[in-house]
Amino acid sequence: EKGTYDHFMLKETDEQPFVIRKIIQHYQDDAEQIKMEPAIRNAMVNADRIYIVAAGTSYNAGLVGKQFIENLAKIPVEVHIASEFAYNMPLLSEKPLFIFLSQSGETADSRAVLVKIKELGHPALTITNVPGSTLSREADFTLPLYAGPEIAVASTKAYTAQMAVMLLLAVDAAKGKEITLDFNPLQELAIVANAMEVLTDQKETFETLAQSYLSESRNAFFIGRGVDYFVCVEGSLKLKEISYIQAEGFAGGELKHGTIALIEEGTPVIALATQSSLNHSIRGNVQEVNARGANTLLISMKGLEHDEDAFVIPAVHELLTPLASVVPLQLLAYYAAVQRGADVDKPRNLAKSVTVE
Ligand code: F6R
Repeated sequence: EKGTYDHFMLKETDEQPFVIRKIIQHYQDDAEQIKMEPAIRNAMVNADRIYIVAAGTSYNAGLVGKQFIENLAKIPVEVHIASEFAYNMPLLSEKPLFIFLSQSGETADSRAVLVKIKELGHPALTITNVPGSTLSREADFTLPLYAGPEIAVASTKAYTAQMAVMLLLAVDAAKGKEITLDFNPLQELAIVANAMEVLTDQKETFETLAQSYLSESRNAFFIGRGVDYFVCVEGSLKLKEISYIQAEGFAGGELKHGTIALIEEGTPVIALATQSSLNHSIRGNVQEVNARGANTLLISMKGLEHDEDAFVIPAVHELLTPLASVVPLQLLAYYAAVQRGADVDKPRNLAKSVTVE
């Protein structure tokens, strides 16, 4: 039920703080430690390399998951597009663990990879919103997302839920490897949930920003560095699939190697600056595009902001910024699509679950 919402996408975007709180609840034991099946922890700890396989938005979440697992659990991770894997199979390590990320658990491209790696005898963990789905039944282990049904074709709350669950998986694996972490992930996730709420409470701001930056344009660029780049890729996918504005996410430093040729007077560029070590360099990239006439909407984070920034998100743990910084991009995409009269919940040519290869 949409309730008072015009679209499921807006409702599902709004649900994100509650989904994060639900994940905290479900993945926490009485001692406020992460609750994880010992078999899953063992599979993580015993793997010499993790292969994350997914499509679309789930793939974009996988890019962030790699950062969590490598940073915290110190296990090397590769992220693969499911539909490419079969034809372009990477050289596998001796003890691989496969993680299938899928909201629906029914994506045929991902299932094809699962069938293949099962034939090879490798272990698989599915992280999905639908326990009981094909990918969940056929894998050795499942971790649920607890996001509740996602109806809009454009994925929002499943993306943030996937990142949250991968964070907990990474933290638990770190514990299994006796790596001590200098932060409490459950507490930091609770802070993220509050930040998400602050963001979803500012809808009018994003409606106005979408109007001034995106309502007239045929194309748009998203730039960021580090994890901000991965969120930019997701933000651009959201914008193109529902508003039909041609959009691309780029690593800030890569633009000058070609794509900057497309920047004209008034071209919208959405820039993310949430990482202290990259704040200076991404701002340099913003200057480069501004010098070519770009209309730049810079979104930064409290503590890193400059006076001229268009929007400042509340401060969250630096590793967890993708869970907060994606919310403005989801809302910008939503309002841009509404303002252009697009069918937000059912974009043309798309299906919620892609069950053909
Ligand atoms: C984009 C979107 C798709 C899905 C992709 C994978 O908003 O929803 O890109 O993320 O089709 O679907 P799942 O996660 O169900 O495997």
